[in-house]
Amino acid sequence: MAQFKSKAGVIAATVGSAVGVGTVWRFPAEAQAGGGAAFLLIYTAFVFILGVPLMLGELAVGRAGRSDAIGAFRALSPRTGWWGVGLASIIVTFLIMIFYMVVGGWMLEYFIESIDGGLYGGIPEGNHDNFFNGRMEEYVISGYSTLIYAVLFILINIIVLLRGVQKGIERMSNIMMPMLFVLLVLFCVVSLSLPNAGEGVAYFLNPDFSKITAETCLSALGQALFSLSLGMGVLITYAGYYPADAHLTRTSVTVVSMTLVVAILMGLIIFPAVTSFGLTDHSLGGTALIFVTLPEIFASMPGCHVWSALFFLLLFMAALTSTISLGEVMVRFVQDRFHKSRNAAVWIVLGPMCILSAVCSLSFGELEWVKVFGHSMFDYLDMISNEYMLPLIAFGTCLYVGWFAPKGLMRNQLSNNNALRTPAATAIIFILRYLAPLAIIAIMI
Ligand code: PHE
Repeated sequence: MAQFKSKAGVIAATVGSAVGVGTVWRFPAEAQAGGGAAFLLIYTAFVFILGVPLMLGELAVGRAGRSDAIGAFRALSPRTGWWGVGLASIIVTFLIMIFYMVVGGWMLEYFIESIDGGLYGGIPEGNHDNFFNGRMEEYVISGYSTLIYAVLFILINIIVLLRGVQKGIERMSNIMMPMLFVLLVLFCVVSLSLPNAGEGVAYFLNPDFSKITAETCLSALGQALFSLSLGMGVLITYAGYYPADAHLTRTSVTVVSMTLVVAILMGLIIFPAVTSFGLTDHSLGGTALIFVTLPEIFASMPGCHVWSALFFLLLFMAALTSTISLGEVMVRFVQDRFHKSRNAAVWIVLGPMCILSAVCSLSFGELEWVKVFGHSMFDYLDMISNEYMLPLIAFGTCLYVGWFAPKGLMRNQLSNNNALRTPAATAIIFILRYLAPLAIIAIMI
């Protein structure tokens, strides 16, 4: 049975899954919309109070079940319908993977175009707004190049997944996560030393509580679940590879803290950079932040290619360690449910993905007219998965581990069958039984 080799590998792979474009890109935009530090406070409360227990719930199911997301529930509670929770998470994983691969392709594209100069070639003097909007139009929105990069990105995923759990996932995470942290700190230092950086920091860290609405809470919840990779079978699948003596509580607190640190570092990078260059509020939102605002900033720095390449490398690594975890959920599922070899499972899952993601990448340009209930295919996938499916699966997981799982599952897993002292177990079980399900339902309603 495949296993992660070291404790460091366990953390690197799990943090790798958590820290993705949701954490490094979506978080600053959400924070801006949700009143800066006010959003950060709610998000922090969610990740610790709900995120840690929920993560432990999934890790416990995964390590006790040691199977794919469906098989783990079946192994623990045979002849019940709880495997449906696993099935739902497999479905969301599949949906999220379709558009996440496209996003990963964008990062790869901008990384390569930064190096070979395509992104900054022929840049006019003065105002660059139109120039980079044009580039975004060409690279992200309408171009067939997007499609090629999405497929390239999927091929990289295939290569890593074919190499297996230790030589592929663990080794890649061990290399990429430290690099990612070094780059984050580097960019943070650069950004904070820009003129007027203080203004951006103040903008980020002064809470504006007037922007907090029920809507904000729901998006903070969605953001917390998504950024910790909860409700997608990732933690169930990865925990199946955790060694029996891994300390689950410590692991989940470490993973949550590191993810939060990355989110805060990203805030400290983006906000000062944006205010220092005198760009306005809407420079922060959505796609334009990464593909217009930041290139504009890089263009005015000496060594712009290098900075730009390093930044998109950071985003690329964040995306890749996350898509690998999504891929692994599906690969493990195909391996266990349909009794396929690992190699066959990788191709069965990621082969069709090349086509699905390609179609999704066209949903901005050529296929923009295709609407699903009034939304583009891309937005629709993002929305149903985040705002409906993830909270529902998280709710199902709480009910299961809180009330219906075999007796003692949580306590045994948290204490490694009484080998560890677990002072927090009672509080964690209490949250999973009462607080978390009620909070999720209240927020959804
Ligand atoms: N946590 C990742 C992010 O922040 C997204 C993700 C979700 C990755 C689920 C894997 C599984 O981008």
